[in-house]
Amino acid sequence: MQHYFIDKQHKESDFFEFCDEVLGLNLCFRSCDSIFSKNKIDDGTRALLSAIDKKCQLSGVGLDMGCGLGVIAITLIKKFGVNFDMVDINKTAVSLSKENLIKNNVQKNANVFYSNGFENVTNQYDFIVTNPPIKTGKKLLFDLMQGAYNHLNQNGQLILVIRKDHGMESLKKHINSIFNNCEIIDRNKGYYILKAIK
Ligand SMILES: C[S@@+](CC[C@H](N)C(=O)[O-])C[C@H]1O[C@@H](n2cnc3c(N)ncnc32)[C@H](O)[C@@H]1O
Repeated sequence: MQHYFIDKQHKESDFFEFCDEVLGLNLCFRSCDSIFSKNKIDDGTRALLSAIDKKCQLSGVGLDMGCGLGVIAITLIKKFGVNFDMVDINKTAVSLSKENLIKNNVQKNANVFYSNGFENVTNQYDFIVTNPPIKTGKKLLFDLMQGAYNHLNQNGQLILVIRKDHGMESLKKHINSIFNNCEIIDRNKGYYILKAIK
C-alpha cells in the first residue's frame, strides 16, 4: 500500500525503460521502482484496454484516474484519437507520465497533474477510465465513484477494471446506487470490466 504515497527523491540510476505490446501497439515507458506495475503492462490494465477496444466507442475528452506511467491514456489516445487529463497522487508517476506522453508522441493530446482523487480536478469529461487503487481501501474507492459521477458530462461513461476477489460485486452495487446502471462488459482471468453511464 505504501508505495502509492511515497514521493521519494530518486537518483538517475533508479529509472529504467521498458517496452511492451498492447492492442497491437508497441509502447515504451520510462519507469522506476516505486511505480505500480513498473516493468510490464498490468494484466488488469490490459483486460480493461482490450474490453474498451472491443466494446466501447470513445470520443471527446477523458480522465485517466490514477494514471501511473500513463499506459491507459497513451493507449487510448493512439487507438481512438481522444484527449485526456491524467492524474495521480504519486508525483513520480505524474512526472513519468509526462515523459511517457512525449516518448510515445502523444503529448499534444494530454495534460497530467497531481491530484488526490478528484481534489484538483475541475473539468467535466466524456469518459473516465481507471484501474483504480484497491489497496487504499473501500472508502477511497467508493468516493472515486461519486467523484466520477460528478465529473462526467450527461451520457458520459465510467469504465473500470476490478478483480472479482477484490470486491467487484460490492463496487458494482455501489456504482449502481449512484448511476442507476452498471454492467459487466467483459471478464478475463478474474478481471471484470464495469461500465456505467451518467
Ligand atoms: C492500480 S494502479 C493503476 C496505474 C495505471 N493506471 C496502470 O493501469 O498501470 C492505481 C494508481 O492510482 C494511484 N492512486 C492511489 N491513490 C490515489 C489517489 N488517492 N488519487 C489519485 N491516484 C491515486 C496510484 O499511485 C497508482 O498509480
